[in-house]
Amino acid sequence: MKVAVLGGSGKTGRAVSAALAQAGVATRPLGRAAFGDLPAALAGADAVHVIAPNLHPDEPGYVTAVLAAAHQVGVGRIVYHSVASPYVPAMPHHVGKAEAEDLVRRSGLEWTILQPCAYVQNFVPALVAGAESAAGSGGAARLDVPYAVHTPFGLVDLHDVAAATAVVLTRPGHVGATYELGGPALVSVADVAVAAATVLGHEVLARRIDPDDWDESATGLDERERVWLRAMFAYYDDHGLPTGGVPLGALLGRAPAGLGEVLSRELAGRSCQG
Ligand SMILES: NC(=O)c1ccc[n+]([C@@H]2O[C@H](COP(=O)([O-])OP(=O)(O)OC[C@H]3O[C@@H](n4cnc5c(N)ncnc54)[C@H](OP(=O)(O)O)[C@@H]3O)[C@@H](O)[C@H]2O)c1
Repeated sequence: MKVAVLGGSGKTGRAVSAALAQAGVATRPLGRAAFGDLPAALAGADAVHVIAPNLHPDEPGYVTAVLAAAHQVGVGRIVYHSVASPYVPAMPHHVGKAEAEDLVRRSGLEWTILQPCAYVQNFVPALVAGAESAAGSGGAARLDVPYAVHTPFGLVDLHDVAAATAVVLTRPGHVGATYELGGPALVSVADVAVAAATVLGHEVLARRIDPDDWDESATGLDERERVWLRAMFAYYDDHGLPTGGVPLGALLGRAPAGLGEVLSRELAGRSCQG
């Protein structure tokens, strides 16, 4: 079996490609250059796993191009990487995925849709930076986010999401299925800080910063991306992103990894006690 992984050079795509390789599947990781000649990039693959770039301005357009190319070269199987709670009108990038899901379901291809919550791994760079600055200053490490630190999320291990992707691509019974993929429990950013403190061996303080202050310090984003991220922070502030963990456990045949397990792995070697 050969799987073309669109977005394969990114964070998610690398994890998915590794999980597929572990399952004995040949992968073709593809980045933006594949869009120069998408049919040629997909030709010969048995399936395509579609991961759009973060905050794509037109995700339905991106997915439309992939579906057309897949039809053109006879790739009959597609797995689309969406997001938990795609139809949230307050978050434009989620709505783009909701519309793209509809296109996938009506494509005539054999489809599966995956709806992961935010990855635990998203917090690792901030935890590492916080740990380093705390080591320099002797104070507590901070975990700053521009939204409430007590709202609930089904934060999920990226590597569990990748393993589940390999399952749906390599085992029968997943055509026509949409799976919400959350971790084993609802957790907050404050819980992330507590779990990280246990792993790192020093205090980690979760703190909500003013989104205006985030806006002033954020770099490398255009105006639309800022507006869309601000919309996401406002939603997270009020509601978090609760996501169920049962489907992921069923796909993996074991409990999904919890915060402590993921952070122990991702922050290995950074404990100030070790
Ligand atoms: N992070 C999370 O917690 C989370 C949770 C649920 C869902 N998701 C979704 O996962 C997806 C991927 O996230 P990620 O963090 O893995 O992204 P990423 O690391 O930024 O990777 C993006 C990928 O898209 C490609 N790409 C960039 N710009 C492109 C363009 N204009 N046209 C076509 N391809 C382009 C990149 O290829 P190059 O190498 O050529 O740049 C790369 O392969 C996003 O849609 C996100 O919404 C993320």
